[in-house]
Amino acid sequence: MKVDILLGLQWGDEGKGKVVDVLTPRYDVVARFQGGPNAGHTLEFEGQKYVLRSIPSGIFQGDKVNIIGNGVVLDPALFKAEAEALEASGHNLKERLHISKKAHLILPTHRILDAAYEAAKGDAKVGTTGKGIGPTYTDKISRNGVRVGDILHDFDKKYAAAKARHEQILKSLNYEYDLTELEKAWFEGIEYLKQFRFVDSEHEINGLLSEGKSVLCEGAQGTMLDIDFGSYPFVTSSNTVCAGACTGLGIAPNKIGEVYGIFKAYCTRVGAGPFPTELFDKTGDQICTLGHEFGSVTGRKRRCGWIDLVALKYAIMVDGVTKLIMMKSDVLDSFETIKACVAYKVNGEEIDYFPFDIEGVEPVYVELPGWQTDMTKMQSEDEFPEEFNAYLSFLEEQLGVPVKIVSVGPDREQTIERYTEE
Ligand code: GDP
Ligand code: IMO
Ligand code: MG
Repeated sequence: MKVDILLGLQWGDEGKGKVVDVLTPRYDVVARFQGGPNAGHTLEFEGQKYVLRSIPSGIFQGDKVNIIGNGVVLDPALFKAEAEALEASGHNLKERLHISKKAHLILPTHRILDAAYEAAKGDAKVGTTGKGIGPTYTDKISRNGVRVGDILHDFDKKYAAAKARHEQILKSLNYEYDLTELEKAWFEGIEYLKQFRFVDSEHEINGLLSEGKSVLCEGAQGTMLDIDFGSYPFVTSSNTVCAGACTGLGIAPNKIGEVYGIFKAYCTRVGAGPFPTELFDKTGDQICTLGHEFGSVTGRKRRCGWIDLVALKYAIMVDGVTKLIMMKSDVLDSFETIKACVAYKVNGEEIDYFPFDIEGVEPVYVELPGWQTDMTKMQSEDEFPEEFNAYLSFLEEQLGVPVKIVSVGPDREQTIERYTEE
């Protein structure tokens, strides 16, 4: 049996959580492979809204096994708050949420370091989520990390050594901080975490695959935030691309089946960094208001702009996307025309590929007629207006991959599959 992957193609917040939830009934297992509580994945169904940060979005559909893989970084305090809230609303997690022993722990001092490094960068700051993601992955790569499995062996010693090292760095940065509250919540989180099943998730997943079970891997962030291929240094600290699922779960590349690439009908970005199609005018404000473009967790206003096909093509290439999913179609319902960036202008020259640096590139647009129809009530692709179909055909022609799912609203039910011939 193959493993399918669903990942973001833009700068995150494409709607991954919603679609993972919709696709979960087709799989036996849902697994997160990278990132941590910097993610905020929103799901809506039966009038309820949930925002998941570390827990995979397959947790609400039946009794599916959900796995937090080795590539994830986990904050026990935030995990406890997230899991307890779900348990309070009647969702039993302990049996079916498994956590890799090899996942790295975000320590309280990682969060402080995140803030200290951002402060030191001044105007050049990344605009991180402040969850300690960068410092935790830095410790992992420099072989100084503390892992979930360490909770069971010599934990106090390992924690103390890491904390002492961090405190040295913070001293050298002259950064003032108070650890008391953070540390208290963190240790409570560690005790809570012990009630869950710590697993060798690479063995578990490969074992399930050899029994013929199917796995859906859920990406966090998006390809443009990838540590290698994103708009560096304004990126996150993990591999958000398709290959991240192999290293973040221990799945061999030849086991990968479909790669679902998800994007918004337009584009957004939170935090600092280049964004060629960003709009600073009334249209940008309109997209922000209509799309409720505010961070799921932080509430930060998302920067908004038109769809960027140069960046999307690049993401599709590095991810090996086989099926596309277009989200938030309804947000563009009222626009008379819609723009799509098909090339960049660099020093007066037009290029159609994603260059080393996108800072300062100028977008070249084509303008298409809007559909000016309420998409939120659509039940099937047969009801799509002509202009909407034309937009989809244009994207498919430009991107070379079929759009198989279209989302027309935040609810689970507002999801339409396209069965058109490829
Ligand atoms: P994720 O991080 O990729 O899971 O995405 P987020 O949850 O951060 O952001 C997506 C936002 O768009 C959430 O508030 C969703 O409820 C909402 N959403 C998802 N799909 C649609 C859609 O088709 N239409 C509208 N209007 N909202 C959507
Ligand atoms: P989901 O999974 C959007 C952004 C931050 C910042 C940069 C680095 O919900 O799509 P970090 O805290 O990771 O070191 O921040 O990455 N960022 C996200 N933007 N959606 C996310 O997750 C993000 N996770 C991180 O805003 O610019
Ligand atoms: Mg999000």
